[in-house]
Amino acid sequence: MPVSIFHRTALAQELATHILDDDLAPARSGLFLGARRRTGKSTFLQQDLCPELKRRGAIVIYIDLWEDLDQDPGDVIIEAILGELAQHEGVVMRLARSAGLERVNMAGVAFTLDRVGLGKQVSLAKALAALSDECQRMIVLIVDEAQHANTTEKGSTALCAMKAARDKLNMGPHHGLRIVATGSNRDKLAVMVAWKDQAFFCAPMKEFPPLGVDFLDWICQRAPASAALRVDAVARLFKRSGYRPEWMQDGLSALAARDDWTPAAAAAAFEEAVEARADLRVQGLLGLVGLLSPLQSAVLRVLAAQGRRFVPFWDRTLETYRLVIEVDDGNKVTEPISVESVRLALEALKDKGFLWRSPHGVYTLEEFGIREALEEGRLLTASTQRVTLMGSQAV
Ligand SMILES: Nc1ncnc2c1ncn2[C@@H]1O[C@H](COP(=O)(O)OP(=O)(O)OP(=O)(O)O)[C@@H](O)[C@H]1O
Ligand SMILES: [Mg+2]
Repeated sequence: MPVSIFHRTALAQELATHILDDDLAPARSGLFLGARRRTGKSTFLQQDLCPELKRRGAIVIYIDLWEDLDQDPGDVIIEAILGELAQHEGVVMRLARSAGLERVNMAGVAFTLDRVGLGKQVSLAKALAALSDECQRMIVLIVDEAQHANTTEKGSTALCAMKAARDKLNMGPHHGLRIVATGSNRDKLAVMVAWKDQAFFCAPMKEFPPLGVDFLDWICQRAPASAALRVDAVARLFKRSGYRPEWMQDGLSALAARDDWTPAAAAAAFEEAVEARADLRVQGLLGLVGLLSPLQSAVLRVLAAQGRRFVPFWDRTLETYRLVIEVDDGNKVTEPISVESVRLALEALKDKGFLWRSPHGVYTLEEFGIREALEEGRLLTASTQRVTLMGSQAV
């Protein structure tokens, strides 16, 4: 049985208007939406936003870069675009003619599309322009977990090709190309719009809004009537779950077995199910943190506490690591805390999957709830937050 979902129609309409609006400069440069993991990004994009954009006449190409992690993200992007091109015979004809092929048959389709791609005879920008001209419609490219493109050279090149296509199609006789990118890690996504050499430098970034009260109302309606589940009671738990719908589904599953609840017993069972999931998650993550060396653990916690203010190699930060190890953890510092040992600790944390390193060497947390787990384990202490801003006193 397919899992039923709560449709976010108003949000889809609002975003579609924003994305397709011709006069909005931000929409023309691309829209970056960040939200933490498992909060319903892909579901919304596929179930609500894509249909709404199509309903308004756009050609929508949806690409999930996390769908097959074994495939190079650059190839995933190209394949998705080729897949759309292949559906439009007229476009293939245009491309064939521009590639010097006069007559195209079925074999010619594959042959023609084979000439489209990065560093090939027909660039992605040219192919998308042909699609735009043939269909006379706006194209919207939706790239889910876009930051993953930056993990390979081909992926980064594909992003640049998308930017070139965007610039080409948003000018002149074409019908426009919009790029919508989402990501589970705001920091990683921020790198894509904040660094000068990134394809989408200066594109606007927005927080993808979490599911809200209307979703909780829908959840309460789905509980057995005898449970008389109330939105205000589940709202607190939803916040605690990091706005993850699956945790609410766990609560519902706990109630599904009976239909003779008293409201108090139902609320307690719902809460217990959500708390059990929270505990499991936090304990699992803290267990992994417990296996780190004292310096690795300190570096991880200082990074988690300081986020984008984190400067790993400053003297002041090295001192912060020492404080965390000695004062918070009550350990003796047995290894020198130096630029080199911190670099090794950061690399080890990256290899263990706690951190991500951008092409520029900026370290950020892999977004899988580690910050929240450290918070719940009370490991983000005052010492870990001790930071010196350029030219100011330690706080
Ligand atoms: N609107 C919704 N109504 C009901 N359930 C939902 C809704 N959105 C998401 N879910 C459920 O929450 C889970 C996570 O959803 P989804 O995969 O869309 O999130 P995500 O943010 O893309 O996750 P990831 O970070 O893993 O990519 C899925 O099990 C999905 O069925
Ligand atoms: Mg997703």
